[in-house]
Amino acid sequence: MSILVLGGAGYIGSHTALELVRAGESVIIADNLSTGHIEAVPEKAKFYEGDLHDRAFLDSIFKNEAIDAVIHFAAYSLVGESVTDPLKYYGNNLCGTKNLLDSMLANNVGNIVFSSTAATYGEPENIPILETDLTLPKNPYGETKLAIEKMFYWTSKAHNFRYVSLRYFNACGADKSGSIGEAHSPETHLIPLILQVPNGKRESVSIFGTDYDTPDGTCIRDYIHVTDLAQAHMLALEYLKNGGKSSVFNLGNGIGYSVREVIETARKVTGHPIPAVEAPKRDGDPARLVASSVKAREVLGWKPRYDSLEEIISDAWNWHRSHPNGFAENK
Ligand code: UFG
Repeated sequence: MSILVLGGAGYIGSHTALELVRAGESVIIADNLSTGHIEAVPEKAKFYEGDLHDRAFLDSIFKNEAIDAVIHFAAYSLVGESVTDPLKYYGNNLCGTKNLLDSMLANNVGNIVFSSTAATYGEPENIPILETDLTLPKNPYGETKLAIEKMFYWTSKAHNFRYVSLRYFNACGADKSGSIGEAHSPETHLIPLILQVPNGKRESVSIFGTDYDTPDGTCIRDYIHVTDLAQAHMLALEYLKNGGKSSVFNLGNGIGYSVREVIETARKVTGHPIPAVEAPKRDGDPARLVASSVKAREVLGWKPRYDSLEEIISDAWNWHRSHPNGFAENK
């Protein structure tokens, strides 16, 4: 298959592109490199630099390459920024994806796997969260992802178009090779921030909120290895290729860990005391987010391989320790 990976120079996109290359697929990556890294693009993938808003750019890729399906990661994904600058998120995530759909339909490409998020649920009604649970996002980031899912739904009713939307919980870890990993600027995610301490980049890590209604008072999340997410994208492509119906799937391990447990595990993995400082709650953080991924397991045949938090953090540490400055190594 020839797969167009939009946003394939980003964290989850590059790990998925690498797994596709390893599986012998023909991979074409398009990325505007606004947050992605050219160094994360696999050697065997073909790369186009350009933007989702540029219709001529997208059309030219579909004209030049015989694309069978698209995987779409290209989006802004900072929850806090989406609250202060919502139109940036609506403009890029929603309008950009509308442009992509126009181009796909015009070029007769009818299959897409989409990078969605647990943020579509907002404050969950039930734990573990099912795909059929209420979706009530608490920020513009989640709203734009949900709006895109709905745009896909209505487009699939009207046109020869099918989609799989994958709602990730907390993506983390890094490829076992240590050659690619998480490198955001600014970094907002818990595990890379924790690992900045043993890397000598910060003195301590903050714990955002200690009086949540959880056993140790800190937020609980479902941490899922980025390589397991990558596998789910490959299975979703296969599912669409075999005529599967448009659908939405949660992707998580189904195991919740508190912020304190994550820090404790990182201490064990790194052998560093990693001082933690209690800090106020971060606006909009739900107390618990844990996925039911039964549907992905049953329908896609997805089996996450890395359900040990220690192994996930160990893979993340392998990357961060060898790339303390991310891809800008030794600069
Ligand atoms: N946290 C801290 N200290 C930090 C950073 C984070 O205590 O320095 C806490 C957060 O409050 C949260 C947990 O660690 O309880 C995880 O935070 P992350 O920022 O790593 O991840 P989120 O759960 O906030 O975000 C993830 C995805 C988002 C997605 C969101 C859905 O990264 O893209 O889940 O709610 F929108």
